[in-house]
Amino acid sequence: MSGERTRPLTRGVAALASVVGVRGVVLAGGSGTRLLPLTRITNKHLLPIYDRPMSQWAIEAVVKAGITEVMLVTGGAHAGEFLRLLGNGRDVGLDLLTYGYQEREAGVADALALAEPFANGEPVLVMLADNIIERSIAPTVRAFAADPVGARILLSPVEELDHLRNLGVAELDEDQRVIRVVEKPEDPPSRYAVTGVYCYDASVFSVIQTLSPSARGELEIADVNNHYARLGQLRYDVLEGFWGDAGESIDVYYAVNDFVRAHGANKG
Ligand code: DAU
Repeated sequence: MSGERTRPLTRGVAALASVVGVRGVVLAGGSGTRLLPLTRITNKHLLPIYDRPMSQWAIEAVVKAGITEVMLVTGGAHAGEFLRLLGNGRDVGLDLLTYGYQEREAGVADALALAEPFANGEPVLVMLADNIIERSIAPTVRAFAADPVGARILLSPVEELDHLRNLGVAELDEDQRVIRVVEKPEDPPSRYAVTGVYCYDASVFSVIQTLSPSARGELEIADVNNHYARLGQLRYDVLEGFWGDAGESIDVYYAVNDFVRAHGANKG
Protein backbone atom coordinates (compact mmCIF):
# COMPACT_ATOMS: atom_id res chain seq x y z
CA MET A 1 0.00 0.00 0.00
CA SER A 2 1.40 3.37 -0.85
CA GLY A 3 1.69 6.27 1.54
CA GLU A 4 0.75 4.28 4.65
CA ARG A 5 2.33 4.89 7.99
CA THR A 6 4.25 1.85 9.10
CA ARG A 7 5.10 0.63 12.56
CA PRO A 8 7.77 2.52 14.49
CA LEU A 9 11.16 0.90 14.35
CA THR A 10 11.66 -1.49 17.19
CA ARG A 11 14.66 -2.08 19.36
CA GLY A 12 16.98 -4.97 18.72
CA VAL A 13 16.30 -5.49 15.02
CA ALA A 14 19.27 -7.30 13.54
CA ALA A 15 21.03 -5.86 10.51
CA LEU A 16 20.69 -7.84 7.33
CA ALA A 17 23.59 -9.90 6.18
CA SER A 18 23.17 -8.11 2.88
CA VAL A 19 20.40 -6.33 1.00
CA VAL A 20 20.92 -7.56 -2.49
CA GLY A 21 20.40 -4.93 -5.15
CA VAL A 22 20.14 -1.82 -2.97
CA ARG A 23 23.10 0.52 -3.39
CA GLY A 24 24.22 3.09 -0.87
CA VAL A 25 24.83 6.75 -1.65
CA VAL A 26 26.41 8.85 1.10
CA LEU A 27 26.31 12.60 0.45
CA ALA A 28 29.17 14.60 1.94
CA GLY A 29 29.38 17.72 -0.20
CA GLY A 30 28.03 21.20 0.47
CA SER A 31 29.75 24.19 2.00
CA GLY A 32 29.13 23.63 5.72
CA THR A 33 28.63 27.35 6.32
CA ARG A 34 26.64 26.77 9.50
CA LEU A 35 29.76 25.31 11.11
CA LEU A 36 32.11 28.14 10.14
CA PRO A 37 34.90 28.78 11.02
CA LEU A 38 35.49 25.05 11.67
CA THR A 39 34.70 24.28 8.05
CA ARG A 40 37.12 26.87 6.66
CA ILE A 41 39.91 24.33 6.98
CA THR A 42 38.13 21.05 6.34
CA ASN A 43 34.97 19.43 5.04
CA LYS A 44 32.19 19.36 7.64
CA HIS A 45 31.87 15.59 7.38
CA LEU A 46 35.50 15.12 8.40
CA LEU A 47 35.01 16.91 11.74
CA PRO A 48 35.03 14.53 14.70
CA ILE A 49 31.94 13.06 16.25
CA TYR A 50 33.33 11.47 19.41
CA ASP A 51 35.98 9.00 18.26
CA ARG A 52 35.81 9.22 14.46
CA PRO A 53 35.14 11.59 11.56
CA MET A 54 31.44 12.40 11.13
CA SER A 55 30.95 10.64 7.80
CA GLN A 56 32.16 7.33 9.18
CA TRP A 57 28.98 7.08 11.26
CA ALA A 58 26.84 7.35 8.13
CA ILE A 59 28.95 4.73 6.36
CA GLU A 60 28.55 2.45 9.38
CA ALA A 61 24.77 2.98 9.35
CA VAL A 62 24.64 1.95 5.69
CA VAL A 63 26.89 -1.08 6.23
CA LYS A 64 24.84 -2.21 9.24
CA ALA A 65 21.74 -1.99 7.04
CA GLY A 66 23.29 -4.72 4.90
CA ILE A 67 24.56 -2.61 2.01
CA THR A 68 28.02 -3.42 0.73
CA GLU A 69 28.37 -1.12 -2.30
CA VAL A 70 28.51 2.61 -1.71
CA MET A 71 29.24 5.80 -3.61
CA LEU A 72 30.36 8.76 -1.51
CA VAL A 73 29.74 12.13 -3.14
CA THR A 74 31.69 15.12 -1.97
CA GLY A 75 33.18 18.32 -3.36
CA GLY A 76 35.37 21.28 -2.55
CA ALA A 77 39.03 21.50 -1.63
CA HIS A 78 39.16 18.62 0.86
CA ALA A 79 37.65 15.85 -1.27
CA GLY A 80 40.92 13.92 -1.32
CA GLU A 81 40.83 13.50 2.45
CA PHE A 82 37.92 11.08 2.11
CA LEU A 83 40.13 8.75 0.10
CA ARG A 84 42.75 8.94 2.85
CA LEU A 85 40.08 8.22 5.47
CA LEU A 86 38.09 5.49 3.76
CA GLY A 87 40.34 4.13 1.01
CA ASN A 88 38.66 1.32 -0.90
CA GLY A 89 36.11 0.83 1.89
CA ARG A 90 37.27 -2.61 2.98
CA ASP A 91 38.26 -1.46 6.46
CA VAL A 92 34.75 -0.09 7.04
CA GLY A 93 33.01 -3.24 5.81
CA LEU A 94 32.33 -2.41 2.17
CA ASP A 95 32.95 -4.57 -0.88
CA LEU A 96 33.00 -1.51 -3.11
CA LEU A 97 33.47 2.17 -2.35
CA THR A 98 33.47 4.60 -5.21
CA TYR A 99 33.55 8.40 -5.19
CA GLY A 100 31.71 11.20 -6.94
CA TYR A 101 32.85 14.83 -7.12
CA GLN A 102 30.24 17.60 -7.08
CA GLU A 103 31.68 20.66 -8.77
CA ARG A 104 29.33 23.18 -7.17
CA GLU A 105 27.25 23.09 -3.98
CA ALA A 106 24.04 22.89 -5.98
CA GLY A 107 21.96 20.92 -3.50
CA VAL A 108 21.32 17.47 -2.08
CA ALA A 109 19.39 16.32 -5.16
CA ASP A 110 22.14 17.64 -7.45
CA ALA A 111 24.70 15.59 -5.49
CA LEU A 112 22.51 12.50 -5.71
CA ALA A 113 22.25 12.87 -9.49
CA LEU A 114 25.95 12.03 -9.74
CA ALA A 115 25.19 8.51 -8.51
CA GLU A 116 23.03 7.54 -11.49
CA PRO A 117 25.68 5.48 -13.30
CA PHE A 118 26.67 3.83 -10.02
CA ALA A 119 23.06 2.89 -9.21
CA ASN A 120 22.79 1.32 -12.65
CA GLY A 121 19.02 0.93 -12.46
CA GLU A 122 18.96 -0.49 -8.92
CA PRO A 123 17.19 1.09 -5.91
CA VAL A 124 19.29 3.34 -3.68
CA LEU A 125 19.57 4.13 0.01
CA VAL A 126 20.68 7.75 0.32
CA MET A 127 22.16 9.01 3.57
CA LEU A 128 23.32 12.52 4.37
CA ALA A 129 26.74 12.23 5.96
CA ASP A 130 25.94 14.70 8.74
CA ASN A 131 23.10 12.59 10.12
CA ILE A 132 23.72 10.53 13.25
CA ILE A 133 21.16 7.96 14.34
CA GLU A 134 21.05 6.03 17.58
CA ARG A 135 19.40 2.92 16.19
CA SER A 136 19.79 0.82 13.07
CA ILE A 137 18.16 1.94 9.83
CA ALA A 138 18.06 -1.69 8.65
CA PRO A 139 14.27 -2.13 9.09
CA THR A 140 13.55 0.73 6.70
CA VAL A 141 16.01 -0.56 4.11
CA ARG A 142 14.61 -4.06 4.42
CA ALA A 143 11.02 -2.82 4.04
CA PHE A 144 11.94 -0.84 0.95
CA ALA A 145 13.95 -3.70 -0.57
CA ALA A 146 10.90 -5.94 -0.21
CA ASP A 147 8.80 -3.50 -2.25
CA PRO A 148 11.14 -1.08 -4.01
CA VAL A 149 8.60 1.29 -5.53
CA GLY A 150 8.76 5.08 -5.23
CA ALA A 151 10.31 6.38 -2.03
CA ARG A 152 10.54 5.51 1.64
CA ILE A 153 11.82 8.01 4.18
CA LEU A 154 12.53 8.15 7.89
CA LEU A 155 10.79 10.70 10.09
CA SER A 156 11.85 11.73 13.57
CA PRO A 157 9.55 13.37 16.13
CA VAL A 158 10.87 16.79 17.12
CA GLU A 159 9.06 18.90 19.69
CA GLU A 160 10.77 22.29 19.43
CA LEU A 161 9.29 24.49 16.72
CA ASP A 162 12.51 26.48 16.34
CA HIS A 163 14.34 23.26 15.62
CA LEU A 164 11.76 22.16 13.05
CA ARG A 165 12.17 25.49 11.25
CA ASN A 166 15.73 24.41 10.31
CA LEU A 167 14.62 21.12 8.77
CA GLY A 168 12.31 19.49 6.26
CA VAL A 169 8.95 18.78 7.93
CA ALA A 170 6.28 16.30 6.83
CA GLU A 171 2.67 17.33 6.42
CA LEU A 172 0.33 14.38 7.11
CA ASP A 173 -3.31 13.88 6.18
CA GLU A 174 -5.98 12.36 8.41
CA ASP A 175 -4.88 8.87 7.34
CA GLN A 176 -1.34 9.70 8.44
CA ARG A 177 -0.03 9.72 4.87
CA VAL A 178 2.67 12.21 3.99
CA ILE A 179 1.08 14.61 1.55
CA ARG A 180 3.97 17.05 1.39
CA VAL A 181 7.38 17.88 2.76
CA VAL A 182 7.93 21.53 3.59
CA GLU A 183 11.55 22.64 3.67
CA LYS A 184 12.51 24.96 6.56
CA PRO A 185 8.88 25.95 7.30
CA GLU A 186 8.12 29.14 9.17
CA ASP A 187 4.99 27.38 10.43
CA PRO A 188 5.82 23.64 10.75
CA PRO A 189 2.85 21.52 9.56
CA SER A 190 3.64 18.67 12.02
CA ARG A 191 6.20 17.63 14.62
CA TYR A 192 7.78 15.11 12.23
CA ALA A 193 11.16 16.12 10.87
CA VAL A 194 12.38 14.48 7.69
CA THR A 195 15.73 12.88 8.45
CA GLY A 196 18.53 12.52 5.91
CA VAL A 197 17.76 8.87 5.14
CA TYR A 198 15.90 8.21 1.89
CA CYS A 199 15.20 5.08 -0.15
CA TYR A 200 14.34 5.53 -3.83
CA ASP A 201 13.69 3.36 -6.82
CA ALA A 202 15.68 4.06 -9.97
CA SER A 203 13.14 6.61 -11.21
CA VAL A 204 14.67 9.12 -8.80
CA PHE A 205 17.28 10.12 -11.36
CA SER A 206 14.73 11.11 -13.97
CA VAL A 207 12.75 12.95 -11.27
CA ILE A 208 15.84 15.03 -10.43
CA GLN A 209 16.16 16.03 -14.08
CA THR A 210 12.74 17.70 -13.87
CA LEU A 211 13.63 19.88 -10.86
CA SER A 212 14.35 23.59 -10.86
CA PRO A 213 16.60 25.30 -8.32
CA SER A 214 14.85 26.57 -5.20
CA ALA A 215 15.04 30.14 -3.87
CA ARG A 216 18.40 29.23 -2.29
CA GLY A 217 19.68 28.07 -5.68
CA GLU A 218 19.69 24.35 -4.88
CA LEU A 219 18.01 21.22 -6.23
CA GLU A 220 16.09 20.23 -3.12
CA ILE A 221 15.60 16.70 -1.88
CA ALA A 222 12.23 17.90 -0.52
CA ASP A 223 11.11 18.44 -4.13
CA VAL A 224 12.10 14.87 -4.97
CA ASN A 225 10.07 13.59 -2.02
CA ASN A 226 7.13 15.78 -3.00
CA HIS A 227 7.13 14.20 -6.43
CA TYR A 228 6.60 10.79 -4.83
CA ALA A 229 4.06 12.22 -2.35
CA ARG A 230 1.97 13.47 -5.29
CA LEU A 231 2.05 9.98 -6.78
CA GLY A 232 1.03 8.41 -3.44
CA GLN A 233 4.39 6.63 -3.40
CA LEU A 234 6.04 8.26 -0.40
CA ARG A 235 6.06 5.84 2.51
CA TYR A 236 7.78 6.34 5.83
CA ASP A 237 8.86 4.91 9.13
CA VAL A 238 9.11 6.82 12.39
CA LEU A 239 12.48 6.60 14.05
CA GLU A 240 12.75 5.70 17.70
CA GLY A 241 15.63 7.03 19.72
CA PHE A 242 18.05 9.82 19.01
CA TRP A 243 18.53 11.48 15.63
CA GLY A 244 20.71 14.49 14.99
CA ASP A 245 21.84 16.58 12.04
CA ALA A 246 25.34 17.46 13.21
CA GLY A 247 25.64 20.11 10.51
CA GLU A 248 22.66 22.10 11.69
CA SER A 249 24.56 24.47 14.01
CA ILE A 250 27.57 24.52 16.30
CA ASP A 251 25.31 23.82 19.26
CA VAL A 252 23.66 20.82 17.60
CA TYR A 253 27.10 19.59 16.51
CA TYR A 254 28.18 19.51 20.17
CA ALA A 255 24.87 18.01 21.32
CA VAL A 256 25.38 15.18 18.81
CA ASN A 257 28.95 14.71 20.04
CA ASP A 258 27.74 14.52 23.65
CA PHE A 259 25.05 12.01 22.75
CA VAL A 260 27.34 9.71 20.79
CA ARG A 261 30.03 9.86 23.45
CA ALA A 262 27.53 8.81 26.10
CA HIS A 263 25.38 6.35 24.14
CA GLY A 264 26.96 5.44 20.78
CA ALA A 265 25.08 5.23 17.47
CA ASN A 266 23.84 2.73 14.86
CA LYS A 267 22.88 0.26 17.56
CA GLY A 268 20.90 -2.94 17.14
O1 DAU B 1 19.40 16.46 8.04
C1 DAU B 1 18.09 16.45 7.60
C2 DAU B 1 17.77 17.63 6.70
O2 DAU B 1 18.74 17.63 5.62
C3 DAU B 1 16.35 17.50 6.17
O3 DAU B 1 15.42 17.69 7.22
C4 DAU B 1 16.09 18.51 5.07
O4 DAU B 1 14.82 18.26 4.50
C5 DAU B 1 17.16 18.39 3.97
O5 DAU B 1 16.98 19.37 2.97
C6 DAU B 1 18.53 18.57 4.58
O6 DAU B 1 18.58 19.90 5.10
P1 DAU B 1 19.94 20.65 5.42
O7 DAU B 1 19.68 22.10 5.48
O8 DAU B 1 20.56 20.02 6.61
O9 DAU B 1 20.82 20.34 4.14
P2 DAU B 1 22.34 20.64 3.96
O10 DAU B 1 22.49 21.79 3.01
O11 DAU B 1 23.06 20.74 5.27
O12 DAU B 1 22.85 19.35 3.24
C7 DAU B 1 22.71 18.09 3.88
C8 DAU B 1 23.81 17.18 3.42
O13 DAU B 1 23.75 17.00 2.02
C9 DAU B 1 25.18 17.69 3.74
O14 DAU B 1 25.62 17.12 4.94
C10 DAU B 1 26.01 17.27 2.56
C11 DAU B 1 25.04 17.01 1.45
N1 DAU B 1 25.11 18.02 0.37
C12 DAU B 1 24.47 19.22 0.51
C13 DAU B 1 24.53 20.16 -0.50
C14 DAU B 1 23.83 21.49 -0.36
C15 DAU B 1 25.83 17.74 -0.77
O15 DAU B 1 26.42 16.65 -0.88
N2 DAU B 1 25.88 18.68 -1.77
C16 DAU B 1 25.25 19.88 -1.69
O16 DAU B 1 25.33 20.68 -2.65
